[in-house]
Amino acid sequence: MSTGTGYVLGHHDPEVERLLLQGRLYRGHTEHALRQAGLEPGMRVLDVGCGPGDVSIAAAHLVGPAGSVTGVDAQASILDLAALRAAEAGLSNVTFRHAAVEELDAPRPFDAVIGRLILMHLPDPVAALRRLVGLVRPGGLVSFQDFEVSGARSAPAVPLFERVRDVIVQAFRGAGATTETGTALPGIFHAAGLPMPALTMGACLGPLSDPDILGFVMGVWRALSPVAVQLGLDVGDLADLDRLPARLVAEAAEAGAIAILPPLVSAWARVPAG
Ligand SMILES: C[S@@+](CC[C@H](N)C(=O)[O-])C[C@H]1O[C@@H](n2cnc3c(N)ncnc32)[C@H](O)[C@@H]1O
Repeated sequence: MSTGTGYVLGHHDPEVERLLLQGRLYRGHTEHALRQAGLEPGMRVLDVGCGPGDVSIAAAHLVGPAGSVTGVDAQASILDLAALRAAEAGLSNVTFRHAAVEELDAPRPFDAVIGRLILMHLPDPVAALRRLVGLVRPGGLVSFQDFEVSGARSAPAVPLFERVRDVIVQAFRGAGATTETGTALPGIFHAAGLPMPALTMGACLGPLSDPDILGFVMGVWRALSPVAVQLGLDVGDLADLDRLPARLVAEAAEAGAIAILPPLVSAWARVPAG
């Protein structure tokens, strides 16, 4: 399904489920990085490309009742779910708004702008970040997190897993997303007029027999396989989505291998005064 935002993975139900699993797997890394970045009680925060709300909710806990979070996404349908999840978490300091990053404005500056897995989906992340920086007060915080998709691997290397990783990378790239945004964050911050950001990186890892680890890999590949076929990529037997999970588990078990999911790079900096 097309979202009209160019978001390559769409927003049909399996994609929402995939985002929820991803949010659960990377929650600890995200919260840790936001805390390290300096998100504090009382701050007014903008979360861009909020999706089902995981990052907005984590930020709302950190800023507390004296602070507030505005989550923004270009896809209206996902925002009801985000609002429902925030209400279920008992949070009254987070609201959600339908808007594209490219057209955002704010009547008064935020103390922080944050976003996870959004810059990799934007055609011009530097222009978007420059615009977002303009919505933050001088001395305020800018914190973004993105994957290093090509950093996913199996250890020791399992050829089948590495093939799935490679075709995912090619499909993302072919569809216009960027697969090394994580390590590109310092360059993107610099080009947007920010100082060199502080950086940290975290990855989820485990055996492919772990349903969450396998579910993450298969969820991304299920979402991207039609894109790969449309792009004319050589997917071969990876197109058999019914048999692939068992093959991945078996080949990894035989090699005694674990899967390392894409590392999530977090970068943060303060908006220069004046
Ligand atoms: C990979 S999801 C990440 C969601 C959330 N930040 C998270 O980490 O769970 C990317 C989100 O960015 C949204 N998005 C894509 N392009 C956008 C744009 N130009 N403006 C605002 N949101 C956008 C998509 O609709 C999608 O919900």
